[in-house]
Amino acid sequence: MVASLDTTFLDHSYENPFMNASGVHCMSTKELDELSNSKASTFITKSSTSVKRAGNPEPRYRSVPLGSINSMGLPNEGFEYYLEYATKYQKKNSKANPIFFSVAGMSVSENLKMLRALQDSDFHGIVELNLSCPNVPGKPQVAYDFELIKEILTQVFEFFTKPLGVKLPPYFDFAHFDAVAKILNQYPLAYVNCINSIGNGLYIDAHNESVVIKPKNGFGGLGGEYVKPTALANVRAFYTRLNPSIKVIGTGGIKTGQDAFEHLLCGATMLQVGTELCEEGVTVFTRLENELKEIMDRKGYTSIEQFRGKLKSL
Ligand code: SIN
Repeated sequence: MVASLDTTFLDHSYENPFMNASGVHCMSTKELDELSNSKASTFITKSSTSVKRAGNPEPRYRSVPLGSINSMGLPNEGFEYYLEYATKYQKKNSKANPIFFSVAGMSVSENLKMLRALQDSDFHGIVELNLSCPNVPGKPQVAYDFELIKEILTQVFEFFTKPLGVKLPPYFDFAHFDAVAKILNQYPLAYVNCINSIGNGLYIDAHNESVVIKPKNGFGGLGGEYVKPTALANVRAFYTRLNPSIKVIGTGGIKTGQDAFEHLLCGATMLQVGTELCEEGVTVFTRLENELKEIMDRKGYTSIEQFRGKLKSL
């Protein structure tokens, strides 16, 4: 194989575009260590809240035929746990590329508090502000409230100077792609991550005439094969609307090298793997890299930049 998967993201050169999606295999230091020792080129922590959260009652994640449904409810070990891990990791791996730190506060003020702490800390990686968790009962997804996106980002960029991206939910209408892109283009964002799970799907076990997860009467975020076309549409829609300085991370339905190739063709720079990482464990990254390289070799591409974003229209 001659194809190179080298990926430049925010002026850093990563060995390949693959990493985990926040929420999968990144809750504990053990899981984070396993990611750091895997073939993923970097990793992101579980979205944290200021204090540890137990999350929703179990069962709250189910693998289903074409993917997954979850209503985890942001279980996490709390902001300080991940900050301590991240800063120790940086010291131990001073030559490693930046890692990603995800935050998902329950309110604007909680997000600002965590971002202020990150700004004042020694953390010199990349921060992802999760505006799209669909699973906290009584808390609508922030990124479906366009005024609230503006309010948060305006306040954040009054003090935050480290690289910051936002995790977006899927949008389903050109008017919404346009409106959100117009807002995001007003801020010095490093990237957008498309997409979080498709919120509030319902998977039914017809034999038992029952839902399959406990929280929210079975409603939960969909991942895996169900979501790939929606994820690709969102990657493409934002890639073609955002200032070129705002990169796009593609997340959703990456199960094979071909899925990865399609996300890159739509314009994604980095690629996050969720459901399939949960299914297969960290060895998924080795397989995805080999499969992507095989496709590139077959097509005669030696680098990702030769085809990234170059999706043809008819
Ligand atoms: C969760 O913990 O409920 C999943 C996180 C997310 O979808 O943002």
